[in-house]
Amino acid sequence: MLIRSEQPGDVDAIHELVASAFPTDAEARLIDKLREADRLTISLVAVLSNRIIGHIGFSPVTVAASQLVRRGLGLAPLAVAEDCRRQGIGTALVQAGIEQCRNAGIDYVVVLGDPFFYGRFGFQPGSRYDVCSEYCDGPEFQVLELADGGSPRGGGLLRYAPEFAMFDGGDAH
Ligand SMILES: CC(C)(COP(=O)(O)OP(=O)(O)OC[C@H]1O[C@@H](n2cnc3c(N)ncnc32)[C@H](O)[C@@H]1OP(=O)(O)O)[C@@H](O)C(=O)NCCC(=O)NCCS
Repeated sequence: MLIRSEQPGDVDAIHELVASAFPTDAEARLIDKLREADRLTISLVAVLSNRIIGHIGFSPVTVAASQLVRRGLGLAPLAVAEDCRRQGIGTALVQAGIEQCRNAGIDYVVVLGDPFFYGRFGFQPGSRYDVCSEYCDGPEFQVLELADGGSPRGGGLLRYAPEFAMFDGGDAH
């Protein structure tokens, strides 16, 4: 299994994979919209025998406190083909994505997801840093600080890229 950045020829396969991994194609459409808006900052695929079996995307986030100049990315979505799950592919994609964020000088990463799954990568509840998300104020909203002091501490409301507004109507996320 190989993990690499997406290439132009991967676009349709990523859409199909992500649409099949979630109940609706909303997440697949989100990726297309982010890419069109040039906000799919990091997009990695897991490839096995020339088949794309996993994908992870990252896009810019901002916090309300204007004095904070930290650069943050939101991890979303993450998808692994149903017949390839529980083999560590999701974990490998998250690890590779975080590594790319570090290399790009990103200060922090946020995610909305299961704390049990993301906690193993060092994500902490957003409440610990005094940040919350417009999409969730529970423990699913988590922050990973990539360098000491890199979190958006006291940043208040964190906003995802405008393309995420497609979920405002209650679409699956
Ligand atoms: C979540 C997902 C990406 C995990 O991919 P994966 O390749 O199976 O992940 P891994 O094999 O690296 O890790 C699986 C581990 O995470 C746990 N896990 C997997 N999916 C989980 C979930 N949705 N919630 C909580 N824990 C989960 C499993 O218990 C497993 O733990 P174990 O290794 O102790 O058995 C995959 O299940 C998927 O694509 N789901 C549908 C889309 C989705 O829900 N994406 C996440 C949105 S935040």
